[in-house]
Amino acid sequence: MPPLRTFLALLSVCVGLYAAGWAMQSQQQPMATAKQPNIVFVLTDDQDLHMDSLEYMSNVRKHIADRGTSFANHFCTNALCCPSRVTLWTGKSPHNTNVTDVNPPHGGYPKFITQGFNEDYLPLWLQKAGYNTYYVGKLFNAQKVTNYDKPHAAGFTGSDFLLDPFTYEYKNATFQRNHDPPVSYEGQYSTDVVASKAYGFLDDAVGAEKPFMLTVAPVAPHSNVHIIDKNIHGNYSGASAIQSPPVPADRHAHLFTDVKVPRNAAFNPDLPNGASWISRLPQQNQTNVEYNDEWYRNRLRALQSVDEMVAELAERLDRHGILEDTYFIFSTDNGYHVGQHRLQPGKQCAYKEDINIPFIVRGPGVPENKTSHIVTSHTDLAATFLSIAGATERGDLLDGEAIPLTGDSMIEVKSHRQEHVNVEMWGIIMSEGKYGADLHNNHTYKALRILGEDYNLRYTVWCNGEHELYNLSNDPHELNNIYTEKSDAAFGPANASPAATVSHVTARLDALLVVLKTCKARECTHPWEVLHPGGEVRSLQDALSQDFDSFYAAQQKLYWTQCEQAYVAESEGPDAVDQYMWHEVSI
Ligand SMILES: *[C@@H]1O[C@H](CO)[C@@H](O)[C@H](O)[C@H]1NC(C)=O
Ligand SMILES: *[C@@H]1O[C@H](CO)[C@@H](O)[C@H](O)[C@H]1NC(C)=O
Ligand SMILES: *[C@@H]1O[C@H](CO)[C@@H](O)[C@H](O)[C@H]1NC(C)=O
Ligand SMILES: *[C@@H]1O[C@H](CO)[C@@H](O)[C@H](O)[C@H]1NC(C)=O
Ligand SMILES: *[C@@H]1O[C@H](CO)[C@@H](O)[C@H](O)[C@H]1NC(C)=O
Ligand SMILES: *[C@@H]1O[C@H](CO)[C@@H](O)[C@H](O)[C@H]1NC(C)=O
Ligand SMILES: *[C@@H]1O[C@H](CO)[C@@H](O)[C@H](O)[C@H]1NC(C)=O
Repeated sequence: MPPLRTFLALLSVCVGLYAAGWAMQSQQQPMATAKQPNIVFVLTDDQDLHMDSLEYMSNVRKHIADRGTSFANHFCTNALCCPSRVTLWTGKSPHNTNVTDVNPPHGGYPKFITQGFNEDYLPLWLQKAGYNTYYVGKLFNAQKVTNYDKPHAAGFTGSDFLLDPFTYEYKNATFQRNHDPPVSYEGQYSTDVVASKAYGFLDDAVGAEKPFMLTVAPVAPHSNVHIIDKNIHGNYSGASAIQSPPVPADRHAHLFTDVKVPRNAAFNPDLPNGASWISRLPQQNQTNVEYNDEWYRNRLRALQSVDEMVAELAERLDRHGILEDTYFIFSTDNGYHVGQHRLQPGKQCAYKEDINIPFIVRGPGVPENKTSHIVTSHTDLAATFLSIAGATERGDLLDGEAIPLTGDSMIEVKSHRQEHVNVEMWGIIMSEGKYGADLHNNHTYKALRILGEDYNLRYTVWCNGEHELYNLSNDPHELNNIYTEKSDAAFGPANASPAATVSHVTARLDALLVVLKTCKARECTHPWEVLHPGGEVRSLQDALSQDFDSFYAAQQKLYWTQCEQAYVAESEGPDAVDQYMWHEVSI
């Protein structure tokens, strides 16, 4: 086909598809009622989806999951508390928040402030939309007894924050209410204090004549952290903090004595696997495994107080007569691993244990007792809350897209919603517990999870040049890295036809990562449009067509010029991708 004709044909297709895409988007979230519904959001800290924690939370199941929808393919896009929370509350990808660590200089509350988000994030947008906003518990790391008022976190009608260095001291927490000075709750159980404050805010919220969002953010099941050096910067080494097992309330300390971390193939495997420092970890000995099992039991015990609080919140919403009109949402900031891939307790990896997390919604129009498999992430949550509030005008500026919450809208988006999750990480990884004191530098990578009808893959490019590709369809525990530089290695069963090769696939995924590493707004949810402005490719499946082999073979691949501890754009080449349309024309 002559190049010019290709170009014109593609251009007309392009206009048509764009129009259709936008029309579908704007109809996607019909409001259940004209009324602005209330939102109660319970946000735990470091809770897993893949070590059965929800099995031990019968009230979360009874009051939220059984009466709502569980999103089985929900992910965080940075498996570390503070970066994940900043993404959640701003609707921006980690590379656009550039809050990439828990502490200064690259993260924590001070970085949230200097990045300007305290003037421009979800609580303020909701207030502008007519909502009262309440928050109790942990907001961000490094929000401290010394900086909580420099300035105060903006956007809350009522707030009572846990403050560092006492945030993770289960029995010696310090809270800071509205603009009052901090108050120590020495000897009281943190989650129970959070719960009683949450009930108080709920009463306030119901008494006011406005719709409200109440966020309740206990620290369970995070480890207990005793910070020794109050001026923590950069890392939590053994010298600056002691991370010990989460502490349950006394009434739960006796539970689950026979329970162990699920022993699946990923647990403390005989063969090393993974990449970078993970591939060099020794297998854990019996002493270490038993210590980690006890750690795990303490996570489940610590979650019991959260589960009791969920029941009480449901009861109170019901008593106020607003349970059925309220979106009652349960999630966590990031996932967690204990022993999988020989890892000591911790997070920050791209394994499913760390990134695939609970997200359960009950509310008006939300299908009951259902599981949705559409791909969603924490980057979508700000857009989702705004959509519930009927405040959609900001939608185009966010890096995520509202999650459909009604049965019809879930079915409708199936054909055009994203199938990828863009996971980012920079810097040091810290493990927890007495065998996890080692810090590992250069834990800097970009990863993609791609979940389509015919594939379920994870691809990671590390700053040191290592690559990983896992086929979760037949390797659900991510143990067999099928990445290879060999261009003719078969991808899929040997008899598959037409046989794509691993390099066919990684060529597409490399290009996608180049788009996603600097994406903004719609580019982040629709990255194929950047590569194919003509709209002829909307999924990996489409992109794998042989028609595009030479186009993708010619793209520059993602690489780092060096490992960085922060988001240093110049070290993350290349700058841009070729676009398919222009590529054809320029031949
Ligand atoms: C939820 O659905 C499952 C089967 O999908 C069923 O066994 C269970 O009883 C249902 N639970 C409720 C509370 O409806
Ligand atoms: C991100 O922040 C770090 C400091 O934490 C800074 O050095 C870097 O230049 C920033 N990156 C971008 C792309 O602005
Ligand atoms: C609680 O923290 C305060 C302030 O650091 C400290 O003085 C006190 O000893 C702690 N209490 C307990 C029980 O650890
Ligand atoms: C972490 O902090 C400790 C104490 O402040 C310091 O000695 C150590 O060098 C730091 N480690 C890294 C990897 O930055
Ligand atoms: C088990 O492993 C831990 C962590 O490597 C080590 O400190 C400990 O000495 C080992 N214990 C035994 C009995 O080998
Ligand atoms: C992944 O595994 C599934 C199930 O065995 C198989 O059908 C598919 O072809 C595999 N894909 C790759 C890329 O190897
Ligand atoms: C981390 O990466 C830097 C820069 O790429 C390199 O100089 C250093 O040796 C690496 N450190 C480790 C512990 O791998």
